[in-house]
This record gives sequence, structure tokens and C-alpha cells, in this order.
Amino acid sequence: MHYKVYDLKDTGDERGGLIPFERDVNVPFDVCRAFYIYNTRPGTPRGAHANRRSQFLLVVISGSCRVKIDNGTEEVDVALNRPNQALWLDKMVWKEMYDFSYNAILLVLSNEKYQEDEYIRNYDDFTRALASKT
Ligand code: TYD
Repeated sequence: MHYKVYDLKDTGDERGGLIPFERDVNVPFDVCRAFYIYNTRPGTPRGAHANRRSQFLLVVISGSCRVKIDNGTEEVDVALNRPNQALWLDKMVWKEMYDFSYNAILLVLSNEKYQEDEYIRNYDDFTRALASKT
């Protein structure tokens, strides 16, 4: 499966939490882009696409959400509900983020700049792209 859930080391102290991101320590790629999703309308999913080149690291730094991950043959559902929990997604996986809690903030890091032409937003196109690679 092309994903991994892991714990991020908190280097905070009695003053509070602090979680650094660092290449090859807890981020498996060079970060080229970061964005965050917030103020998500209740009941509204995000994502629903695959990416030809982008990997992602997802961290819900506040609140919670769930992520459906589909590699074309297998589907898993991951709950993100701790700021020290990271979800790495490889390129060419279909993902949907949903069930955002009130005030959830989802931080996303990626190895690629935003390029719409590497997004696959139709599920049938995704399975065709996978088939053409095998
Ligand atoms: P979209 O891909 O639909 O977001 P999500 O996958 O989270 O549901 O992106 C929404 C809009 O934001 C769309 O117009 C493209 C733009 N966008 C950027 O300009 N840069 C980015 O890094 C991302 C993720 C989106």
C-alpha cells in the first residue's frame, strides 16, 4: 500500500508542544509546497483526486478528519486526530479527506509545486492510468 501513518516526535517542553519537520527525519521528500485546509464546511469532503507526481504528508494540526486512500486495488480509511500523527501518501493514490471536525486545520506538505496537469480528478482516468503502467 502506498501510504504510511506514523508518529511525529514532539520536541516541546513544559512551555508546550513543538513539532519540527525535517527531510529524512520525519519527511520522506524535499518539501516544495505547503498548504492548509481550514474552515471546511460541515459535511464537505476535499481531495477526491490522484496525483501523477505529488507525494503528500498530511497532519491535522488541530481537530480531526478522516482520509480514504485507494491504490486502485485496495481501500483503507485512516483517522487523523492528533497533531503528532502524520499520514504519508505516495504519488498515484486516490484520496479523499472527509468528516472534518469543527475548526479542523489540515496541514499538507508536498514534494511538488502545484501543477493542475498532474492532478487526476476522474476516478476512471485514475484506474486507466494505473492500468497503462502495468
Ligand atoms: P483542490 O485541488 O480542489 O483542493 P482539494 O484537493 O484540497 O480539495 O484545489 C482548490 C483550488 O486551490 C483550485 O483552484 C486549485 C488551488 N490550489 C492551488 O493553487 N495550489 C495548491 O497547492 C492546491 C492544493 C490547490
